[in-house]
Amino acid sequence: PEKPVVVVGSANADIYVEIDRLPLEGETIAARGGQTLAGGKGANQACCGGRLDHPTYFVGQVGDDAHGRLIEDALRSGGVLVDRLARVPSAPTGHAVVMLQPDGQNTIIIIGGANMNCWPEDLRDEDLEVVRRAGVVLLQREIPDRVNIQIAQAAKNAGVPIILDAGGMESPIPDELLKLVDFFSPNETELARLTGLPTESLEQITYAVEKIHEKGVKKILLKLGAKGSVLFVEGEDPIMQPIIPASVVLDTTGAGDTFTAAFAVALVESKPMKECLEFAAAAASLCVQAKGAIPSIPSRAAVLELLQSFQEDATT
Ligand code: RIB
Ligand code: NA
Repeated sequence: PEKPVVVVGSANADIYVEIDRLPLEGETIAARGGQTLAGGKGANQACCGGRLDHPTYFVGQVGDDAHGRLIEDALRSGGVLVDRLARVPSAPTGHAVVMLQPDGQNTIIIIGGANMNCWPEDLRDEDLEVVRRAGVVLLQREIPDRVNIQIAQAAKNAGVPIILDAGGMESPIPDELLKLVDFFSPNETELARLTGLPTESLEQITYAVEKIHEKGVKKILLKLGAKGSVLFVEGEDPIMQPIIPASVVLDTTGAGDTFTAAFAVALVESKPMKECLEFAAAAASLCVQAKGAIPSIPSRAAVLELLQSFQEDATT
């Protein structure tokens, strides 16, 4: 049987605020609209695995409240296995305030809640067991570092590849965690933040990537937004992947999560690296064309269709 994708991480109620521009200091502005949707980098990535028809577990925590139920419903309808989703009474479900601007770009502030507050000191045996049986484990940075480290250690001991998405808290990533991961996936900003180096030109990026290799990470999956992505494998030539253009960019929220998770699905299906990158690019392209994170995550059929039409265009 197929080994599952296991996502360990955050779930948030995303409070969407659609604005024409960010408010100035001391200013009050009115939003054009707003709504509350299920999100969180962990839940988004898990839904992506589910929508792409790969058996996917989500290991995470929500509060015992309406937002927690919203998230559980979204995960279930995304085809995610929720046996390891804990409902904890001692903290509210995490939140994210997502400020969406007309060009589809966003600014996000997260409020940890159950994601941060009440993981047990030692992870539950059942959670670790799911991790050990995984085909790949996906982590991000919206839960405590110590939980990520414990999960990564369990995965590593069981020979399960680990992908760490750098998205989430701005606190420095512990070297102890970095050295356990197989793939590290930052965007440009996160790469700059982690290394303290500029990442404007390709030369600067290459230099910053080398610094991460020196921390023991062999593979770096760099997301460059509209400029595409690059996979750096230590000692090899980088593989560049341009974006697959979207007909319209409505909302980029969750595009990075979709990219990383779709890459993970292709990886666990043993596709060659170049195909993993293309598959991820197609999934992310579809994600930016609709509003909301989870609501915009595409199905496998949609991704394959886009890839096919893109490849046909390229050959004619
Ligand atoms: O990556 C997008 C996600 O970041 C949102 O869904 C929000 O919850 C924050 O975690
Ligand atoms: Na979207």
